[in-house]
Amino acid sequence: MDTSVSNEDFLATVAEKSHGAALRGDYEHADAQYVVQQNWAEYSEAEHDLWRRLYQRQMALLPGRACDEFIDALHKMDAAAGIPEFEKTSAELFATTGWKIVAVPGLIPELTFFEHLANRRFPVTVWLRKPEEFNYIVEPDVFHDFFGHVPMLFNPVFADYMQRYGQGGLKAMKLGGLDQLARLYWYTVEFGLINTPQGMRIYGAGILSSGGEVEYCLTPGTTSRHIHLQIERCLNTLYKIDTYQETYFVIQNFQELFDGTAPDFAPYYERLKSAEPFPANALLPQETELLP
Ligand SMILES: [Fe+2]
Repeated sequence: MDTSVSNEDFLATVAEKSHGAALRGDYEHADAQYVVQQNWAEYSEAEHDLWRRLYQRQMALLPGRACDEFIDALHKMDAAAGIPEFEKTSAELFATTGWKIVAVPGLIPELTFFEHLANRRFPVTVWLRKPEEFNYIVEPDVFHDFFGHVPMLFNPVFADYMQRYGQGGLKAMKLGGLDQLARLYWYTVEFGLINTPQGMRIYGAGILSSGGEVEYCLTPGTTSRHIHLQIERCLNTLYKIDTYQETYFVIQNFQELFDGTAPDFAPYYERLKSAEPFPANALLPQETELLP
């Protein structure tokens, strides 16, 4: 199968989907798999300083809220001093779980994204947000991608889940299940919570790299729901991109996540084709809300 997606086609699709808005990255120098050089020496001192401030803000919030797997890996990664050199972390990551980091200009086509994951390569955006985007950024930047996602790839079971997700993505493209599968990524890899003996913890990168949602998602008494993850239900649940999540799906452990994605999703997609998706704040009759 031809796995290259032309830049022109991709950028035209993005422009169409985003009503003409252009992506920020430099796509001129990307190869057929959308990989670029990180050019680490070109980051400015102001950018390293902004990274350090983002890092420190998150580290003040994450103890007791992020899962141990994330915190332990982050400490080993030594990413506090400034924007990290991908190659260094990539070598450590490869030695631990066989994953590599590849530098990309920003968002990349779905096919290419799935190809990378299926081959244990995690694409990390090279550019950092602007100072005025300290609290909120629309497109994923290096802080979100690296700080939020890379630590979890040091966990062997989660790392296997991510590869399986990439393989599932390639299948979903053929089966017409992309919208459904994207919801699973959203509610696990980006906004997932996990129950631990110490209490509920965060493993989702979208929360871990965000200033506000870290506290919000674990606060009891908000209008957001916490529900035990059930895969088919999650595949059929809409999500919000511009507010905090209205539902957090909670797992018991990472093995559960990996095992849940072992079955063939084809029958799920087939059933869901004719199903009305659940709104982001749905609670089904058989479901119980968990206490954060
Ligand atoms: Fe992300």
